Amino acid sequence: MLQRLDKLIASQGTRSRRDTVKLIRSGRVTIDGAVCRDPSQKVESESQQITIEGKPLVYQRFVYLMMNKPSGVLCVSRDPKVSTVVDLLPEEWKRKGLFPAGRLDKDTVGLVLLTDDGELAHRLLSPKNKIYKKYLVRLDAPLTDEHCRRFEEGITLADGTPCHPAKLEILENGEQPLAQVQITEGRYHQIKRMFGVLDRGVVWLKRVSIGELVLDPQLKEGESRPLTSQETELLVL
Ligand code: URA
Repeated sequence: MLQRLDKLIASQGTRSRRDTVKLIRSGRVTIDGAVCRDPSQKVESESQQITIEGKPLVYQRFVYLMMNKPSGVLCVSRDPKVSTVVDLLPEEWKRKGLFPAGRLDKDTVGLVLLTDDGELAHRLLSPKNKIYKKYLVRLDAPLTDEHCRRFEEGITLADGTPCHPAKLEILENGEQPLAQVQITEGRYHQIKRMFGVLDRGVVWLKRVSIGELVLDPQLKEGESRPLTSQETELLVL
């Protein structure tokens, strides 16, 4: 695909468009071995070799970011009234048409994948692909093995919607137990509604993985970073 040099470099997300223009004008970018100082020069990302300060640009068609979502933020691209996960991204990522692959509730924290790869998002979310999303959940009353069995069997929600078999593992039992839940679907308030059927209230919910992709424990709530190439491969394969 032919596109402007400044747009292509900025689309990789490591610099803003303005910084990219400065970089190009300063003579630190080459196309097929020749310095190019014109930000509007058209380039073909697949076949032309671009270098920045001597290093080859490895062009990535899509962007994949992980975020540790804080509570109080909506899991959508844009909202006129409320802060969204996209609003929390550093400036250079904001104009890329990124969207969250799958929604977490406003009060749920943890792993959100932001991407512009619609096909991958669809594949991760489609229940028929049986990709487990793993959550940690704190509840308001003790759990029993019977609850684990009900999850395994597949819970029918209060409105009659049947859920696919899921996994519940009790990590700490007591007045406010901590458990791990794994589901392959993403119905509205699904985990809260599943526990609602078992007469348990969710007091805290955190997503920790999507398939093989695990939330980086170094990321503080509200922070995000691009996936490493190894992490991207885990999703794309
Ligand atoms: N289930 C819920 O109830 N809420 C979430 O945010 C995710 C799964």
